Amino acid sequence: MSLTSFGPGKVILLGEHAVVYGAPALAGALQRGVRAVGIPSTDTRLQLPKGLKARMRAQLNEAFEAAAEATGRPAIKVALESDLPISMGLGSSAALSVAVSRLLLRAAGRRDDARSVSGVALQMEQRFHGTPSGVDHACSVAGGLISYRRRPGAASGRAQRLAVHSPLHLAVLLVGERSPTRTTVASLRERKARWPERYERLFREIGRTAVDGHRALAEDDLAGLGDAMNVNHGLLVALGLSSASLDAAVHGLRAQGALGAKLTGAGGDGGAVIGLFERPAQALRAIERSGLPGFSSTLTACGEEQPS
Ligand code: MEV
Repeated sequence: MSLTSFGPGKVILLGEHAVVYGAPALAGALQRGVRAVGIPSTDTRLQLPKGLKARMRAQLNEAFEAAAEATGRPAIKVALESDLPISMGLGSSAALSVAVSRLLLRAAGRRDDARSVSGVALQMEQRFHGTPSGVDHACSVAGGLISYRRRPGAASGRAQRLAVHSPLHLAVLLVGERSPTRTTVASLRERKARWPERYERLFREIGRTAVDGHRALAEDDLAGLGDAMNVNHGLLVALGLSSASLDAAVHGLRAQGALGAKLTGAGGDGGAVIGLFERPAQALRAIERSGLPGFSSTLTACGEEQPS
């Protein structure tokens, strides 16, 4: 008998990078993600997807081994299916980590509640990203829309599912290949170490956009949320995390009537850009007119506290 599990991808609405240093962030789960399918086997084994680069294969094997160890090595062979663009800032490694962790926990007959899945998925994410804030896999575990804050000095943080009034209609544009998140986070860390006061000021300001965005969501003020996204993009530009092509995509979405638009995820030389629209048809038209690959997504929410 086969077992399946799913981990959704994510978009960060507000707060990427600053969240690594303890500022709050808002993130939403996509309908797209990674499905793990397991069939009984004589050992714990991952069937690697075809066409992966050597570095990615090695990381995937290492991350899978960490999850296998953490779950007591259930006898299962795991295959992966994904409709999420990989290495685009849409949380593909976290989605994979959550899907695999949930599947291995179930196969081992262990609890697969949010806390248990999160604990194993964090170990996998650390193999992919080094020192992730935890926002990606927390969002994938919780689903819906979350506010997230890393605990001071801890490896992960606290996720709170948010209740929102109106669904959020997003255009997601794929702007092009980018450096790995680990590299972008590390070079920002170096700049911060060199000019700590300036960078800490910018991180604090990004955290404020997340707090403002949280309030705007609670008040069903989509224009206020969009404005916080625009300001957040400006701050990411100031941190050196955008590029000419990301900026052009952001400005294109605003010209098509986005209430707010910004890069999402680690940024750098490429990756993904999101725009918030009042209606789904506007988001679809903006994608068509951008000339870039992309998809629309509607974020909805439910409201309950989630451990992470
Ligand atoms: C990556 O999706 C988000 C970053 O803030 C890194 C992290 O939170 O670990 C850039």
